Amino acid sequence: MRRLLWKGEDEALVKLAGAGNLILEVGSFEGGSTICLCNDNRNFVIALDPFIASQDLVDFTANVDMARTQKAFIENIKGKGIAWVHAASGDALSFLRSSRLRFDRLFVDGCHIYDSVKSDCEFLHLVKPGGLAIFHDYANAKLPDVRRAVDEYLESPTGPAVMKREIILSMLVAHL
Ligand SMILES: C[S@@+](CC[C@H](N)C(=O)[O-])C[C@H]1O[C@@H](n2cnc3c(N)ncnc32)[C@H](O)[C@@H]1O
Repeated sequence: MRRLLWKGEDEALVKLAGAGNLILEVGSFEGGSTICLCNDNRNFVIALDPFIASQDLVDFTANVDMARTQKAFIENIKGKGIAWVHAASGDALSFLRSSRLRFDRLFVDGCHIYDSVKSDCEFLHLVKPGGLAIFHDYANAKLPDVRRAVDEYLESPTGPAVMKREIILSMLVAHL
């Protein structure tokens, strides 16, 4: 499996995922983070990924064979407590909002351009009080849009109340 998490993030993500939780993931690639979040079937993960190469060169997937990536993802999640939703996050937002599903954990690692990250921040409203929202690449200096969009959102009046923020490797963890 091609791994995109930073050194040490696998273990950190398993810890953050905990057990007995319903988790929403935005951006799965070959499933490296998805499998950590699932934590040996202790959690159930809904994974959103359209597997369409990004048109924006800031995004790693602009140069990747996404058909091959999708195939690998399907193979890697077989038999695990993971449900794949073949949709871009922006398209899934309205149906997830109107559903009664609320999540214990949100993990965001989809398209890293400003507008997409800002839009993905809307998923914060689907996280239960006491839950965690985790933004990958927040501390990645090569992807400054992530931090800018997340900070703006969390500091805006439309953002949810965040009790605590911590940075773990590249990830911002917001405690709701
Ligand atoms: C950096 S990779 C994710 C890496 C993955 N989390 C891991 O740790 O291996 C970004 C992924 O986001 C997906 N993606 C791009 N735009 C998306 C969107 N609008 N909604 C959901 N996923 C998106 C891409 O298809 C790609 O698989």
